[in-house]
Amino acid sequence: MKKDTFYITTPIYYPSDKLHIGHAYCTVAADAMARYKRMQGYDVMFLTGTDEHGQKIEQKAQAKGVTPKQYVDDIVAGIKELWRLFNISNDRFIRTTDDYHEQAVQKIFRTLYEKGDIYKSHYEGWYCTPCESFWTETQLKDGKCPDCGREVVRSEEEAYFFRLSKYADRLVQYYKDHPGFIEPKSRENEMINNFIKPGLEDLCVSRTSFSWGVPVDFDPKHVVYVWIDALSNYITAMGYGSDDDSLYQKYWPANIHLVGKEIVRFHTIIWPAILMALGLPLPKKVFGHGWLVIGGGKMSKSKGNVVDPVVLCNRYGVDAIRYFLLREIPFGMDGNFTNEALVSRINADLANDLGNLVSRTCGMADRYFGGTLPADREEDALDDELKSLALETRKNVENFMDQMQFSNALNEIWKLISRTNKYIDETMPWALAKDEAKKARLATVLYNLAECIRIAAILITPFMPSTSPKILATLGLGEKDLCWDKAGQWGLLPAQTTFHKGENLFPRIDMAKEIAELEALTGVHTGSDAKAEVAPKAEKKQKETSKTAPDGIISIDDFAKVQLRAAKIISCEPVPKSDKLLKLQLDDGMGGRQVVSGIAQWYTPDQMVGKTVAVVANLKPAKLRGVVSEGMILAATVGDSAHVLFLDDDVPAGSEIR
Ligand code: MSP
Repeated sequence: MKKDTFYITTPIYYPSDKLHIGHAYCTVAADAMARYKRMQGYDVMFLTGTDEHGQKIEQKAQAKGVTPKQYVDDIVAGIKELWRLFNISNDRFIRTTDDYHEQAVQKIFRTLYEKGDIYKSHYEGWYCTPCESFWTETQLKDGKCPDCGREVVRSEEEAYFFRLSKYADRLVQYYKDHPGFIEPKSRENEMINNFIKPGLEDLCVSRTSFSWGVPVDFDPKHVVYVWIDALSNYITAMGYGSDDDSLYQKYWPANIHLVGKEIVRFHTIIWPAILMALGLPLPKKVFGHGWLVIGGGKMSKSKGNVVDPVVLCNRYGVDAIRYFLLREIPFGMDGNFTNEALVSRINADLANDLGNLVSRTCGMADRYFGGTLPADREEDALDDELKSLALETRKNVENFMDQMQFSNALNEIWKLISRTNKYIDETMPWALAKDEAKKARLATVLYNLAECIRIAAILITPFMPSTSPKILATLGLGEKDLCWDKAGQWGLLPAQTTFHKGENLFPRIDMAKEIAELEALTGVHTGSDAKAEVAPKAEKKQKETSKTAPDGIISIDDFAKVQLRAAKIISCEPVPKSDKLLKLQLDDGMGGRQVVSGIAQWYTPDQMVGKTVAVVANLKPAKLRGVVSEGMILAATVGDSAHVLFLDDDVPAGSEIR
């Protein structure tokens, strides 16, 4: 039977000296998605690559005394090595310096020119050399580049232009007709309000001031400038514009372009307009993820705050890093990277929850049955809840994966892992082992544990591809057992399962010692999650000095100081060791935030996820039970209980509330 296709792409990376963990974030996410779809039986095409042209590269190569090609070859080899280390399962790797790409780009450029969508004119504007971007006077921020804040220079040159302005209405109509084309939804609003509504200008698509690029074949003093070259990779990699476009016919349109939030604009405005001009179908979805930030700022080489992915992988293993990246940060939002958060996740989720479950179960099977379970069984009503959770988990994971909510998907698997650990405490195998008459019950308990471990091991495969086979091996299972469908079935292990105790999957880490060593090794102080704590004294002083009228009436100006916004709850989990607090990750249309709310007595996390709430957005961050809360959500007090104010689901995240 012919399989459905699934085509997923990452951006193509600039070959800067070294990629950092922020770059790896996008590729790991795309890899998890590609692996998930393959396991579900799709014919997957997963593309990544490098974006190698431009003035910056030309200058760097010059400074090093090598040709641009020599310069990029070296770095690209390192990038490929990094993806091997990260277990990235890309099917293709495109380099914009590949011959077939360059030829196809020339064809695309010529076609657009012949159709009248590209025309020759003059460009005059402010140019930022490091960003390779022209800016208009009004786009500048304090006279500097609005992206990087560096100096810009006045520049004028003959250039070709793409008629982007012509496509404004068609783009907005396309977004309307294809809900879900841009995700998260807040990014669609951003595109319309910040870029399309103010007016799209035609786009400069050629340069004459440098030569490291694809030459315009009918006017070779021009090279194709950045975006037409880079964006076309998604189709040229499939053979578009070549003699053999069978892959293009098979896989295009792509199912997902996964990109960082700062390049959503190029992928949802420029790229669709180019495709419309070429008369080609548009990708089905562009998903703009958030950034890994350190201390509130984007991790980037120019800021010197980058974390080296190789150091982390060598120290903790690739799967721990992959897990951390996709579990810690709700996909779509920015997430603060801290060494502390990383080590906590490894200790709590991987060493304690998962690692312990596997080693305890193997240990007990060894101790009580010499490693092989007897065939006798004795069921108990207690087992039913565990079994039904185990069987539900796959569906729940699928629901979140299909929405690219990796963190929630992992949370579902960890719910099963935690419930299984709790089952050990409830059934007390050590007590059963003391009673000869309870042997069948004991074997049943261990079998149920093994089944839950088997199911969890299959489900973690897209995220932790080298850990799952190791776990399955402890149950005597191999590659043929690693199928997604088998995670939805109970009782696949043989009754007389033999356990094979393996290595300790995730050794526990001594936090204090580790953080010191890690900071010494990387030279980067990531700090802890806490950025600000409200000191009780300061809070009191604030109360005393706030000027309100004696009768408690405030002016409209006072009220206007409170910024209220609509926010969508992306994920929610209890705060450890607290009966009252829930930790919520919110899409607030501004990059996301975390809020801790004292509503755990009245709401379960499941009741909160997906809802839209009102958040006080300019509240000073505070720490509750050691967890940072950046704002508060509004709730009505009714007697002793709280009723959260839920907004209509149609209210987009980020909408101002007045
Ligand atoms: N070459 C362009 C993309 C062209 S796609 C047709 C580019 N390259 S890049 O190397 O600068 O960035 C590649 C990706 O890495 C982008 O999606 C960007 O958002 C992502 N990241 C770079 N730093 C990041 C973080 N600190 N955190 C998360 N992602 C980050 O843009």
